Amino acid sequence: MEHRDLEKYIPIETFTGETEIDDITSEKKLYVETYGCQMNFADTEIVNGIMKKNGYDITENIDDSAIILLNTCSVREMAEARVLQRLTEIKKYKKNNPNLVVGIIGCMAERMKRDLITKKGVVDLVLGPDEYRRLPSLIDNLIDTGEKGIAVKLSRVETYDDIMPVRKEGISAWLSVMRGCDKFCSFCVVPYTRGRERSRPLDGVTREISALAEEGFKDITLLGQNVNSYKSGENDFSDLLAACAKAVPEVRIRFTTSHPQDLSMKLIETIALYNNICKYIHLPVQSGSNRILELMKRNYTVEHYMKIMYNIKNIIPDVTLSTDIISGFCTENDDDHKMTLDIMSEVRYDGAYMFKYSPREKTKAWQYDDDVDEEIKTKRLMEIVELQRNISEEKNKSLVGKEFEIIVEGISKKSDKMLFGRTDGNKTVIIPLNGSEAGDKVKVKVNKGNSATLFGEAVSLN
Ligand code: 5AD
Ligand code: SF4
Repeated sequence: MEHRDLEKYIPIETFTGETEIDDITSEKKLYVETYGCQMNFADTEIVNGIMKKNGYDITENIDDSAIILLNTCSVREMAEARVLQRLTEIKKYKKNNPNLVVGIIGCMAERMKRDLITKKGVVDLVLGPDEYRRLPSLIDNLIDTGEKGIAVKLSRVETYDDIMPVRKEGISAWLSVMRGCDKFCSFCVVPYTRGRERSRPLDGVTREISALAEEGFKDITLLGQNVNSYKSGENDFSDLLAACAKAVPEVRIRFTTSHPQDLSMKLIETIALYNNICKYIHLPVQSGSNRILELMKRNYTVEHYMKIMYNIKNIIPDVTLSTDIISGFCTENDDDHKMTLDIMSEVRYDGAYMFKYSPREKTKAWQYDDDVDEEIKTKRLMEIVELQRNISEEKNKSLVGKEFEIIVEGISKKSDKMLFGRTDGNKTVIIPLNGSEAGDKVKVKVNKGNSATLFGEAVSLN
């Protein structure tokens, strides 16, 4: 933990007379800590956008802040446990500065609601993912009256389309195109914490992506819990992707996440058609057993999933693939687990996000018996991780001798004599310093690879 310079906190007693408010306004400092998925990181940028418009400064230094918000995740119990642990640390900040405002926003706010205030004395504000516009007024009210604020209504229409997110300068940006999820997979809390699916209008998204390109972003990821459900008038997600690709032809475009039930041929063909749409698809499979997929309410079979994979590999031969896998879902036996290992070997993903099943209240599976022992869940997860590590390594080693275009992101974290960048397939490549800078496109030849990283050298500067 860093040293806390308490003198930098803004004493809230001074928020009284009008002139003082004006004076202080410019000093109001907001610090947001983000947990969980990319949607949450994109939401933090939206929150920063709302707060900046209301006269707040955004700080990355917690010691400098008058307001601390934790943007939280509920997808697994561990994610919530980390935030609750963090709250006990933040208690110490508040003890030293009783005027500090502490808020919980995001999925945990939506799930735990008032409990966060009644059970965690340190929390002043609780706001769900569709209530961020109310942050400034709830803070004002808290300061004026001492009343703690809670806003957890879910919306059928809120997309924050008009809010300009405040992003860190850099190469990559997230761009949220839809919110919520109507899939109700039996293990997943997201439909309860983020509400119903709704999409931003297509022209709002293309306008924002053009602005991002102007600002210098080179690699933009379109985000949604299930982007394949995107709808704007007559336009579906493939149309949106094509419109973005045309609007910013120099920028790499990615997207996440897709659901296998509605990943269309049109989408695969659109990815193949545009040079600047990354040949990278993240398609969560969750399990290789049809019985488990049915219990998970995923609405597809292994056969359907493999058909999509076949089409993807046929139409986009150099595609990079990744997935999500859950080990130890209710009733999963050794045969089911073996089928998961089998589908991994058959698809040969480049990467995977792998989790142990964690029961979540409200979900359909909460009513099932969480009957796979913790040790077995762990053992199966380790086998899944090990298999994926081997496949990733083999795939990366097979790229030795091949050439790729990377976009340089900066100096390697491990050596200041090396640069790192990413391929179209989202693989990190390390190359020796060669005079190029963050944002430059560099053609590289791969000469080494392990399960996580490629190593190479520049062959010519674009
Ligand atoms: N337990 C474990 N993993 C989960 N995921 C979602 N809900 C749970 C849960 N209850 C995983 C899924 C999903 C990813 C975002 O998180 O694999 O695709
Ligand atoms: Fe959760 Fe399923 Fe929706 Fe993904 S598609 S957010 S796993 S309910």
